[in-house]
Amino acid sequence: MFSLFIFSLLVSVTAIFQQSAAADDDYAGIDVCRACHQKNYDNYLKSTHSKAAIPGNPANKNACESCHGPGLAHVQKAGAKGTGMIAFSKKENPEMRQARCLACHQDSTAVPFWNLSKHKINGVSCSDCHSGHSGTKNNLKMAEPALCFTCHADIKAQANKQSHHPMKEGLIKCTQCHDQHGSSGPKMVKADTVNELCFKCHAEKRGPFLWEHPPVAENCLTCHVPHGSNHGKLLSSKPPLLCQSCHDATRHPGTIYSRFETFPGSATSGKNRIIARGCLNCHTNIHGSMGPSVRGQRFVR
Ligand code: HEC
Ligand code: HEC
Ligand code: HEC
Ligand code: HEC
Ligand code: HEC
Ligand code: HEC
Ligand code: HEC
Ligand code: HEC
Ligand code: HEC
Ligand code: HEC
Repeated sequence: MFSLFIFSLLVSVTAIFQQSAAADDDYAGIDVCRACHQKNYDNYLKSTHSKAAIPGNPANKNACESCHGPGLAHVQKAGAKGTGMIAFSKKENPEMRQARCLACHQDSTAVPFWNLSKHKINGVSCSDCHSGHSGTKNNLKMAEPALCFTCHADIKAQANKQSHHPMKEGLIKCTQCHDQHGSSGPKMVKADTVNELCFKCHAEKRGPFLWEHPPVAENCLTCHVPHGSNHGKLLSSKPPLLCQSCHDATRHPGTIYSRFETFPGSATSGKNRIIARGCLNCHTNIHGSMGPSVRGQRFVR
């Protein structure tokens, strides 16, 4: 029974194949591929690549074979291995795989910094993230952030921490902050500097402020981490330690109280440890302040 099935399949394939004899010598044509790869065919038809409506779309001409290479030999041997099809498997050379895509996408506005990207440099290829027939937008193999987590397990761990940018909740995508194809900024972020990136969504932190807090103006990541933290508000360490890493010698240090310097000191004792260790209870405007005089300058309410 089974061999009979194969036989009739081959007969019908041959029949379709003869119909599309107009194709270039080594190409078999999409209708032939369809006979054995129906699901890929269906999903390919949903993709931008298949749409004839795009003016001058060269992707349409050889359809499947524009990516997989000419398939005549593959068809004639009924799909046997070693017939020269490009499969975009990890075993194949990444340079060769991406060259298939770049043949048309060299000048795409989507990938101007590709040659500088850490992905390209580390042998990640277009087809590690894209398919030709996943049936989804942009033909991604899977949606974000799962796609990125397949290789970036450390970032996944960070995204699970108590305070995190809402990535796994689907409210913010990795690619809103990063350009996966490469960028001119640090760590492939979608801005020239980290602060410019943060200001895109946290514009109120840009100021201008009458009283700037220098580390804020310099780099948000002096106090914050970008993905996730077990300290509240994405902080890199917990106040007062965070503050004391720079301000240990203030006039009211938050160090441990002692028998000699304790609350409540008398009015004349000059005790300076009478205040709680919660620096932010008083210094509320830690990102900068417009307040008048000393209160503003000290970022207090
Ligand atoms: C007669 C049936 C048949 C036809 C027609 C056919 N294929 Fe295949 N194809 C197969 C089989 C069988 C395999 C092997 C599947 C496997 O090993 O899992 C295969 C595998 C593939 C692979 C994966 C190759 C690999 O090494 O893993 C690609 C890509 C592919 N086909 C593309 C095409 C394209 C493009 C066309 C049209 C030009 C086409 N096929 C036409 C039967 C066919
Ligand atoms: C024969 C030319 C050609 C080849 C080969 C080609 N593309 Fe395209 N691709 C196009 C054209 C034309 C468009 C539509 C215009 C545009 O976005 O540049 C497009 C659009 C896209 C899009 C965005 C639109 C969407 O919904 O899918 C992605 C993603 C893409 N291609 C990825 C790839 C990848 C990955 C490869 C290699 C596996 C590849 N392309 C191979 C010509 C091609
Ligand atoms: C690390 C994963 C990854 C790699 C590698 C990758 N892409 Fe993409 N690409 C994506 C994601 C994710 C999107 C969708 C981004 C979005 O939703 O805004 C995308 C979108 C696109 C688009 C459409 C976006 C637009 O602005 O029109 C094109 C075209 C594209 N990729 C082509 C390529 C080509 C060509 C390569 C190889 C040179 C490649 N990609 C490599 C993940 C990747
Ligand atoms: C834009 C480029 C592109 C086009 C066009 C394209 N493919 Fe693919 N194809 C890929 C990539 C990339 C992979 C590997 C990633 C994956 O597994 O989806 C792949 C994998 C495959 C595989 C092996 C894995 C599987 O899904 O079984 C087959 C078979 C295949 N394609 C057949 C086809 C057929 C048939 C067509 C036309 C109807 C087609 N492809 C059109 C890029 C393309
Ligand atoms: C809110 C913006 C933002 C989001 C969302 C985001 N990142 Fe980042 N990412 C950054 C910044 C900023 C850096 C660090 C830049 C620097 O060190 O100068 C960074 C660094 C990285 C690095 C470099 C290694 C490291 O740990 O410093 C990787 C890898 C990375 N991000 C992957 C991801 C992935 C994967 C996702 C999605 C799950 C993601 N990022 C989401 C902003 C973001
Ligand atoms: C196939 C594996 C793979 C996938 C999928 C992948 N990456 Fe990467 N990525 C790498 C490798 C390898 C590096 C370079 C080594 C490193 O920094 O970990 C890298 C580096 C990075 C960096 C650091 C850049 C720098 O300058 O240090 C960022 C940011 C990044 N990837 C973001 C993403 C995002 C966003 C996605 C999902 C759209 C993604 N990656 C998907 C493999 C992958
Ligand atoms: C693409 C938009 C976007 C960018 C860019 C962005 N953020 Fe956010 N950020 C968000 C969203 C959305 C939230 C969650 C807001 C909420 O829960 O109300 C958030 C929350 C935060 C929080 C509070 C976290 C908590 O646990 O309450 C901090 C701190 C923060 N972001 C810092 C940064 C820093 C630093 C940068 C630059 C590295 C940055 N963000 C870049 C969108 C963004
Ligand atoms: C000197 C350390 C420090 C620097 C630098 C810093 N922050 Fe913060 N940030 C904090 C602290 C502390 C909190 C928690 C405030 C609280 O809990 O009341 C916070 C909270 C936040 C929040 C969440 C609460 C809110 O105020 O909206 C966002 C968003 C934020 N920071 C963004 C930024 C951005 C953007 C930058 C860079 C322009 C930046 N931070 C630089 C210390 C800092
Ligand atoms: C990376 C180092 C750094 C960290 C961390 C830091 N600051 Fe600052 N802070 C500075 C610098 C530098 C100045 C400017 C000092 C000057 O002008 O004499 C400053 C100024 C101040 C001032 C105004 C002092 C004055 O004399 O006008 C206050 C108040 C202050 N910081 C509180 C805090 C608090 C609270 C935290 C923790 C949430 C914190 N800082 C974290 C470096 C830091
Ligand atoms: C009870 C409220 C309160 C708390 C809590 C507090 N501060 Fe202050 N801080 C102030 C006030 C008010 C001033 C302004 C005093 C003045 O100018 O005479 C000030 C001044 C400062 C100054 C600038 C003056 C100097 O000492 O050079 C720094 C720096 C500072 N605080 C850091 C911190 C740090 C770090 C913490 C947490 C360990 C903290 N503060 C906790 C109220 C507080």
